[in-house]
Order: sequence, then structure tokens, then C-alpha cells
Amino acid sequence: MSKQFLQDVEEGLSKSKKTIPSKYFYDKRGDELFIKIMHLPEYYLTRSELEIFQTKTAQIIEALALSPSSYFELIELGAGDGLKTLELLKPLVVQNFSFDYMPIDISMNALELIADKLKGALPSLSIKKQQGDYFKILDSLKATSHPKVVLFLGSSIGNMEDEEAIGFLSALGSNLSKGDKLLLGVDLIKPASVVLPAYNDSQGVTRDFNLNLLRRINEELHGDFNLNEFEHIPSYSEEDGYARSYLKSRKDQKVRINGNGNFYELKEGEQIQTEVSRKYNDEIINTILEKTDFEIQSKITDNKGYFANYVLNRV
Ligand code: AVJ
Repeated sequence: MSKQFLQDVEEGLSKSKKTIPSKYFYDKRGDELFIKIMHLPEYYLTRSELEIFQTKTAQIIEALALSPSSYFELIELGAGDGLKTLELLKPLVVQNFSFDYMPIDISMNALELIADKLKGALPSLSIKKQQGDYFKILDSLKATSHPKVVLFLGSSIGNMEDEEAIGFLSALGSNLSKGDKLLLGVDLIKPASVVLPAYNDSQGVTRDFNLNLLRRINEELHGDFNLNEFEHIPSYSEEDGYARSYLKSRKDQKVRINGNGNFYELKEGEQIQTEVSRKYNDEIINTILEKTDFEIQSKITDNKGYFANYVLNRV
């Protein structure tokens, strides 16, 4: 059992507005469900960002201001499934750019999967797997003082409230040098008629993904959540751009974790927030960036304007 997991769940359930951190979605079952989500017809994010990488890498490469003759490190935060990254790597390899591809992930398994996949498609690509915590590894890479391009794709930053995003980007900036680039993939604000179904699909995969958090707590923290007594609730406001997911208690109930005698009381209708999926526009991005060392160099969107990859310059 992970002590940090237990501590975070206990803390979240003790708050007056109960929460469970979304990072705990991703156990083996959660990873499988997220892959299913990425292929859902309602989940436009995957296809919109992939379209950018399939049709606009020339623009991305130009905005990154790379020159084929000077070496750089291409660092990806999170290994992902490699589809988008492969689209960017192909032209870089074909045009003989001089670089190492360095995916960072906490999971060695994820790194090996991506490395095998990319090696198969691009045998001459140099991959240097980096297993561990993003910031620990970036800190260790500071010493090399090579120019860096960091990829943070898939609207992963959307899981953070703006204050957290500022903290994250500030920490990232302090591990980079002037002129380094960050390619940041974010979902854009759009009508609820498009966003809500992406978090409430007709096959119920997102519901299962959300409820899997309780299953994981039962399994790893010896919880006694009855999954049938919770309902998956998505919400989204186009006004502020926050999509949030909740688990709503279907009745007054007490849940226990860790067998330590501590009960958490839930009222009928009470909601546990399990995720934020922030949507952005230029104004929000600029308000966040103002408090960091990054500025917008370029913005590249898909044809529907659903998703953006911002090229940010470390100033
Ligand atoms: C991986 C954070 C981009 O918020 O859209 C998908 C996770 N949650 N469906 C998102 C998720 C529910 C996803 N991100």
C-alpha cells in the first residue's frame, strides 16, 4: 500500500468539499480505460491534436526555431502512446536534425513500450529513456546545458487548477534556459454540446474510468466503497472553461478506508470531485504565463479550432 496514496485520499475525503486527486486514476485498469477513452467517438481531444501533428509539423518545427546543424534534446513529459510524437520525429529525422529523444516517465514499462514502437518506425532515431520524476530528471539534465525542447502534450496540464499550472510551469522554467522551448498541448474552450459528451460517453467508459478510482481505493487501501452507490457526474461551464468530474453519492452513507475505524460520511447527493479538465483560450494562457518565465511564440490549432499546441519560449 502506498502511504502517499492513503494520505492523499484521507485528506481529500476530510475536506468540506470532498476531492480525490485525479492522478490516482492511472493504475493498470485505469490505463486500459484511458486508452479506450482516447478512441471514443465523443473524445475529440485525441483526434484534434493528432490532426495538428499529422498536418502541421512544418509549422511546429519552424516555430521551435531549430537549426538542423545544432544539437538539442527533445524531452517528452510522459511517454504516451507515441502516435503524435512519431509524426514530429519523422520530419526531424528525415531532415537530419541532430537530437536525442528523451521521454521521461515514472513507468519503465511505458518507456520500453514507446521506445520499441519508435525504434521500429525510425531505426536511426536516438532514444534515451529517462525513468523517474519529471523535475528530478530535468534538474539532472540542467548540467548538460544543451538547448532543450520539452513536449507536454494531450492537455495533461488541464488536470491542474490554474494556480497549480503556474507552479508547474514555473518549476519547469527554472529547469530550462533562455531560448529553450515548450510545446504545450491544450484543449480550447468550446460549447458544452461538444465538451460534455467527451466526458460522458454513450458507452459508459468514462463512468467506469471515474468509478475505477473507488475500486482502486477498495483494493489498495482496503476501502469499502460500494460502487453501485455512486454516480458519475460530468460538469462544464463554457463561461470559465472548467470541466469537472464528480462521483455523487446515491444515498446517505458511511465509507471506511484502511480498516482504521475512520469513517467518512456522505450525504445523499453529495459529490466527490475527482478531476478537472481545464479548457483554455489565449487570455487564460497569457494570465498563467505572466507569472512564469514563458511567453507565447506561436499557436497552432486543428481545423475545427478545438485544440491548440502552443510553442512557448523560455525568456
Ligand atoms: C489525460 C487529462 C487529458 O482530462 O481530458 C479523459 C483525462 N479524464 N476523460 C482529460 C480524462 C476523463 C484527460 N487528460
